Amino acid sequence: MRRKLIAGNWKMNGSLAANGNLLASIKAGLPGSACDVAVCVPAVYLAQTQSELSGSKIAWGGQDVSAHESGAYTGEVSATMLRDVGCRYVIVGHSERRSYHNESDEVVARKALRAAASGLTPIICVGESLEERESGETDEVVARQIDAVLAVMDEESLKGVVVAYEPVWAIGTGKTATPQMAQDVHAFLRQRLGAKSVVAGEKVRILYGGSMKPDNAKELLSMPDIDGGLIGGASLKASDFLAIVNAA
Ligand code: 13P
Repeated sequence: MRRKLIAGNWKMNGSLAANGNLLASIKAGLPGSACDVAVCVPAVYLAQTQSELSGSKIAWGGQDVSAHESGAYTGEVSATMLRDVGCRYVIVGHSERRSYHNESDEVVARKALRAAASGLTPIICVGESLEERESGETDEVVARQIDAVLAVMDEESLKGVVVAYEPVWAIGTGKTATPQMAQDVHAFLRQRLGAKSVVAGEKVRILYGGSMKPDNAKELLSMPDIDGGLIGGASLKASDFLAIVNAA
């Protein structure tokens, strides 16, 4: 059985004061037998998150990582640095980075590889735009995105990654994929992973992201290939985030 993972993606939100409250409330409200829980916070707040969450059951992670190891890459954060502040996870290839920072499938794959090589668990995001869905290209798009990762990763690294299916049209819009729509893409992605490595096909957790909220989480999380959620807006409110954790 794959253990469910609920990960918050705070995106570019927060402040020292607000984060302190949010993290304390999540920590205090976390149910005893929770699934795996993580928060992915802006890089400048990772040290704060580490000091707030050390010793708790909640893991933390970054929202992006450099494809390079170290050196003259102004503004970038390396996988080793993320490890240094205790990160377990890092999001790579979020659609906001693919579209606003022109990250190609190849760059995303290199980032995922660098993260895995440094001992981080990459949360690799894939997903189609509205236009792509409406023209029937969903499978083709997510296949291209995941295949770039499969091309560079060996079986050993692949087993440890997390994939997040985030249809772009559902992100921050309040529109959610129906559980069946999401399940179909998750099953397709699992089959793709399984074709490269049977073990990866069975082990890799595939999260759903895109307007997952307390009122739709249970239905989505009950689908056989939906192994958790990557939560944007609802991860900024402790009660909503905890309600989703409780639904997992
Ligand atoms: P929302 O939950 O705000 O739609 O964001 C989803 C997302 O992009 C998580 O990475």
